[in-house]
Amino acid sequence: MFERLALPLMCAPMSFASSVPLAVACCDAGVIGGWQGGIFTLSDEFGRYLDALGGSHRAPPIVNLPARIATEAAGEAKLALLERHRAPLVLSSLGDPSRLVERVHGWGGRVVQDVTTLRHAEKAVEAGVDGLMLTCAGAGGHTGFITPMAFVPAVRRIWDGLLIVAGGIADAPGIAGALALGGDIACMGTRFIATPESGVVEGHRAMIPGVGIDRIVTSAAMNGMAANWIRDSLEAAGLDVATLPDHRTEMPEGVKPWRDLFSAGQSVGLIDQVEPVAALVARMAAEFAELCPDSRWRQRLAAIESDWG
Ligand SMILES: Cc1cc2nc3c(=O)[nH]c(=O)nc-3n(C[C@H](O)[C@H](O)[C@H](O)COP(=O)(O)O)c2cc1C
Repeated sequence: MFERLALPLMCAPMSFASSVPLAVACCDAGVIGGWQGGIFTLSDEFGRYLDALGGSHRAPPIVNLPARIATEAAGEAKLALLERHRAPLVLSSLGDPSRLVERVHGWGGRVVQDVTTLRHAEKAVEAGVDGLMLTCAGAGGHTGFITPMAFVPAVRRIWDGLLIVAGGIADAPGIAGALALGGDIACMGTRFIATPESGVVEGHRAMIPGVGIDRIVTSAAMNGMAANWIRDSLEAAGLDVATLPDHRTEMPEGVKPWRDLFSAGQSVGLIDQVEPVAALVARMAAEFAELCPDSRWRQRLAAIESDWG
């Protein structure tokens, strides 16, 4: 599964930003390709992702699903399709993953749980997950609040399996830093929005290289959960950032969060250009190899795979 990775990196699942072309380009370039399977109905996109990501790619895809999907009748059709495609990796979020773990293990797949607190991490481990993704402070989308400096080593004390680190990472030093803290794989979301392959509107793609870290604001006003947003897009939509409440509130008429209000993490300050996935990955892999010239990360991932059996 991990043998042909170009570097220890995953592209985050990011709703419609993780288009089929983005996920495929990542897997072909040797980066684990995230996509969001919870938002699509079976009749449209879901099958298209599975068809495009099947077959031979350098890196595996990882599909994000809400944990409750395994307990809902409506989720069964999606799980049956994933089973038919033998989906290798599922990223579970929001809730108890026990049933999902049972189901995915049934076809030989592995489940990684996305967590933002130590308590969530402990519960996920008890539920039998195969890996943890720590969404830390500064992440794009729904953010965590704990700095990776404290979170990664704290989770390492209770978990020696696969650990993915997300939030604020957009370059090779960030990947090396995630590994130095005890992570096995770094995850980038915002960095991959600034590629021609991502599924965002042009305004969103173009805004990322143009804004700095100070333009990122955290707000729960859009859908009730704290997420990071580019201030410029909120202001362009007529929102007064200074007076946003800390709970869900009505958006101006016609304004849709995610589509018209652009989400990004604090790593925007590290992104200078829109770059095709293949060139971006090749550049970061070369920079990472300078920082971490040995193959310890590969040996570690090989050992995790061998433990999985
Ligand atoms: C526009 C956008 C949409 C996102 N949508 C999802 C999603 O649907 N599911 C999910 O688990 N995470 C989602 N995320 C969060 C990412 O999975 C990841 O935690 C985050 O991008 C990492 O931080 P970074 O953006 O600083 O790299 C989204 C992030 C962004 C920027």
